[in-house]
Amino acid sequence: RAHRDPHRPRFHFTSPGGWLNDPNGLTHWNGVYHLFYQYNPLAAAHHRIHWGHATSTDLVHWTDEPIALAPGTDGPDRDGCWSGVLVDDGGVPTLVYSGRHGDRELPCVATGSADLRYWTKDQANPVITAPPEGVDITAFRDHCVWREGQVWRQLVGSGIRGVGGTAFLYESDDLRSWRYVGPLLTGDALQNQGELDWTGTMWECVDLFGLEETDVLVFSAWDEGTTHHPLYWTGRYKGDTFTPTALHRLDYGGRYFYAPQSTRDEHGRRIMFGWLQEGRTDEANAWAGWCGVMSLPRVVTLGADGRLNQAPVPELSQLRRERVDVAAGPLTDPYTRLHAVRGDQLDIETTLRLAPGATGRLVVRETPDGAERTVVEVSRAHDGAGGILRLHRETSSLDPSVDIEPRYGEVPLDPDGRVDLRVLVDHSALEIFAGGRPLTARIYPTRPEEAVGVGIGADGDVTLERFDAWQMASAFTQGPRPLWP
Ligand code: FRU
Repeated sequence: RAHRDPHRPRFHFTSPGGWLNDPNGLTHWNGVYHLFYQYNPLAAAHHRIHWGHATSTDLVHWTDEPIALAPGTDGPDRDGCWSGVLVDDGGVPTLVYSGRHGDRELPCVATGSADLRYWTKDQANPVITAPPEGVDITAFRDHCVWREGQVWRQLVGSGIRGVGGTAFLYESDDLRSWRYVGPLLTGDALQNQGELDWTGTMWECVDLFGLEETDVLVFSAWDEGTTHHPLYWTGRYKGDTFTPTALHRLDYGGRYFYAPQSTRDEHGRRIMFGWLQEGRTDEANAWAGWCGVMSLPRVVTLGADGRLNQAPVPELSQLRRERVDVAAGPLTDPYTRLHAVRGDQLDIETTLRLAPGATGRLVVRETPDGAERTVVEVSRAHDGAGGILRLHRETSSLDPSVDIEPRYGEVPLDPDGRVDLRVLVDHSALEIFAGGRPLTARIYPTRPEEAVGVGIGADGDVTLERFDAWQMASAFTQGPRPLWP
């Protein structure tokens, strides 16, 4: 069944079959990129989570590896091997992950073979036997581990009831015995509640890294049933605390780029992956036999405005096939179909110059009658200052059961009102980058074979300075993914 699902991406990584969520254990180890992920091989549902594993030498083509971790028949991870990281312990690849037992998670450790394929769980698991004493916590899971001088340091994602999300800091000499230091930083559970920058009651998948002189703490703001979105603090990590300067949204798609993790690769780049959740029903996932998409790998850099800039890794251009360009010039109509560009596997790069108050528009996955279409817009404020990126999914699908909520966020424009817009379409996966700000989402047209039209247009004074589109090849050399490996 799954190999016939027209919504299955072809150049984004998906699992061989079953359920996929968070990226885990990201590392560039002796020239090979390792992507582990939260995985249920038995069904397209979140249950008894394993660690799936895939490798790549170019971040584009992936090879499935044997399952790295499976829940124990007994013991601290009998109900799941939840998210975690991979560190290099003096040459020994070592995983730190959340073992789930009942409805609790505790930190566990496993060591790997030299090729990172086979893993042995530590006898002493869990290596931290309880959350910090005397703190009323909402959760306790997910790990960020690094070497600092002579010691290891670890963050565990958590939240303090009635206070806010937090990351607890620990220290160790051997990755096995850990000393609790204290909360690195605590959010305010009440501040801006309901707003897009609310930090939730728990911080999932904390990820701390430095970029130039700035320290960045990425986390996924979580609250039971209400909140799921990735945010980041910029600030200064020093001693045992993180002093924040600002809080920002990491991806305007919210839950469609969830639980990101990053690593510094052997070229010194900060590479990040996130999980693209499904926007269709559990029944639709079960029917498809697979669900969950890994984002394209992104390079994360620090912008002049102190915010993160994100872009797909340049290696992706290997998959570009036929190119179509469109002549530069003013966009005089609200909408023009581009008959030369069609497809459901596309990489589109365009530069728009917007006058104050103007809106530029790119339409993808449009049916010939226009009944289904997905609209990406960038608008420049009337006062000329900033821009807004909008994704209209309201007409992306006529299926009433899929999520079609619009998404939006601020984007920087240059002083002349120029913005670089990149749109990657891969069946149901959509990744948009405008001025370095990402918006990731899923779309499910009901007539997928016909929903291949592309068009552009504008309201107000907009100049198209550049437009190039490429057909994208599949990253799976054996053709579309079969249901089972
Ligand atoms: C985030 C998350 C993590 C947890 C994992 C379980 O999506 O909920 O907090 O470790 O997924 O699969």
